[in-house]
Amino acid sequence: MPSRKLNLSIAAGVALTFGAATVLAEGYGPRPEGVAHGTEISEGDLALWDIDIEAPTGEGLPEGEGTVAKGKEVFAAKCVACHGEEAGGGAMYGSMVGGIGTMTERPRRLTPGSMYPYAPIFFDYTRRAMPMDSPMSLTADEVYSLAAYIYHLNGLIPEDFTMNAETMPTIEMPNRDAFMVDDRPDASAERCMSDCKPIGTVADGDQKS
Ligand code: HEC
Repeated sequence: MPSRKLNLSIAAGVALTFGAATVLAEGYGPRPEGVAHGTEISEGDLALWDIDIEAPTGEGLPEGEGTVAKGKEVFAAKCVACHGEEAGGGAMYGSMVGGIGTMTERPRRLTPGSMYPYAPIFFDYTRRAMPMDSPMSLTADEVYSLAAYIYHLNGLIPEDFTMNAETMPTIEMPNRDAFMVDDRPDASAERCMSDCKPIGTVADGDQKS
């Protein structure tokens, strides 16, 4: 529940302002009803920022679709200055094409084609971070089209591929099985959303050394 999380962090910020010692001694105490200051943020406002795409399922991918041809156009208008012709490397970044099969070589060549284990990662990253000088400015159709263009340049999909929420997760990425699950004990922390232990205390199951 995103709004609850926000209220909690606002409450924490206020408590900290009035003295860290109080927080450490008493924890956060009961959460006050409603917001303590400012106005309640609406779920609608939060939705604009709740844009995570799950991988490998692609859950969260929006409606819309894109094609290689449209992606080529958008790329020429909004990406080529930094990423170069046909994403082969430009003023700001190296190639986004090729490198497939180099993961066990030195140097590896990391590109969306060679590295990403799941195709929807491109959507999440590009929508939130690119173009670098104007992030979050692309439409869903533009991002789908750019994904089609880049994955096509990488030889992963045919030129007539239609990219959308259904098709994107089905693309077989070459590096799909090369990632391993990080099972170190300190990497398994679970997010706490209610009745959380005060910050600074050790959660059940955590190792102390
Ligand atoms: C102003 C320069 C600039 C523009 C314009 C720009 N990029 Fe980038 N892009 C970068 C830089 C710099 C990085 C590396 C960022 C990093 O490593 O943190 C990057 C990284 C990326 C990556 C990650 C590459 C990888 O190997 O994982 C993708 C994908 C990408 N850009 C796509 C795009 C697309 C699509 C557009 C056009 C809509 C675009 N970029 C426009 C500068 C730019």
